[in-house]
Amino acid sequence: MDLSTPQHPRSDSQSDTITVRRMSASDMDAACQVIGLAFADNPNSLVVAAGDRVKARRMTQTAVRAAKLGRSCSHVLVAEEGARLVGVLNAAEWPHCQLRPGEVFKTAPVILRALGWALTRQWKITRAWAKHDPRAPHWHLGPLGVHPACQGRGIGKALLGAFLTMVDDQGLPAYLETDVDRNVALYEKFGFRVIAQENLLGINNRFMWRAAAKWSTPTMTTLRC
Ligand SMILES: CC(C)(COP(=O)(O)OP(=O)(O)OC[C@H]1O[C@@H](n2cnc3c(N)ncnc32)[C@H](O)[C@@H]1OP(=O)(O)O)[C@@H](O)C(=O)NCCC(=O)NCCS
Repeated sequence: MDLSTPQHPRSDSQSDTITVRRMSASDMDAACQVIGLAFADNPNSLVVAAGDRVKARRMTQTAVRAAKLGRSCSHVLVAEEGARLVGVLNAAEWPHCQLRPGEVFKTAPVILRALGWALTRQWKITRAWAKHDPRAPHWHLGPLGVHPACQGRGIGKALLGAFLTMVDDQGLPAYLETDVDRNVALYEKFGFRVIAQENLLGINNRFMWRAAAKWSTPTMTTLRC
């Protein structure tokens, strides 16, 4: 599949409202697809897939269902444009940031099948990320992805704004990992700060923390674009 071909081309006259809401079970396939497409060019995904972006998309699409969106403790938001799902934000509340042993056991066959030998590279990243996890109450964000055809139109910010409104209502800090410089700037605008970094398989991974804040976040549960 040519990933450069948008699955949801947007005509110039199109200006549907973007709505952010909790994910329902029937959204799961579309949500995993969006995350797979969004992360096909992500540095970590590409290094794990040895530079094969089709494999990176497939692996991510399968793994995100088993290890993230499908978890009972996950808090998943989706952004919709009309009837189309265009963005996804996943988060877990500490201490559920990492898979529990039972979840590892349950998801291992799926992950193994999806990643094959790439699992050794993914494991290095997963293990390093886990070591950085703050051992204090917080919301752990990730992944956040927007369909490539819809990026740069405020959808990621809408998802982040909605999520951080909930986080602020609960008076909790938030935490995330990122491997993209441009994303660091985006998260900084929402109050996250880099607290650590580590070179993993040649990629500079940043670990970002947002203190429980009183300041008002750019809240956008719906917007025009
Ligand atoms: C990062 C991402 C979620 C941002 O969502 P978005 O809807 O494209 O971004 P928005 O339009 O809401 O906000 C734009 C900001 O996002 C950042 N950004 C990161 N990647 C971007 C992209 N591919 N296109 C446009 N903006 C991007 C920029 O900082 C931009 O700020 P600017 O407008 O001041 O230049 C989205 O681009 C994406 O899915 N990227 C690929 C997957 C990924 O890297 N996810 C995050 C992992 S930590």
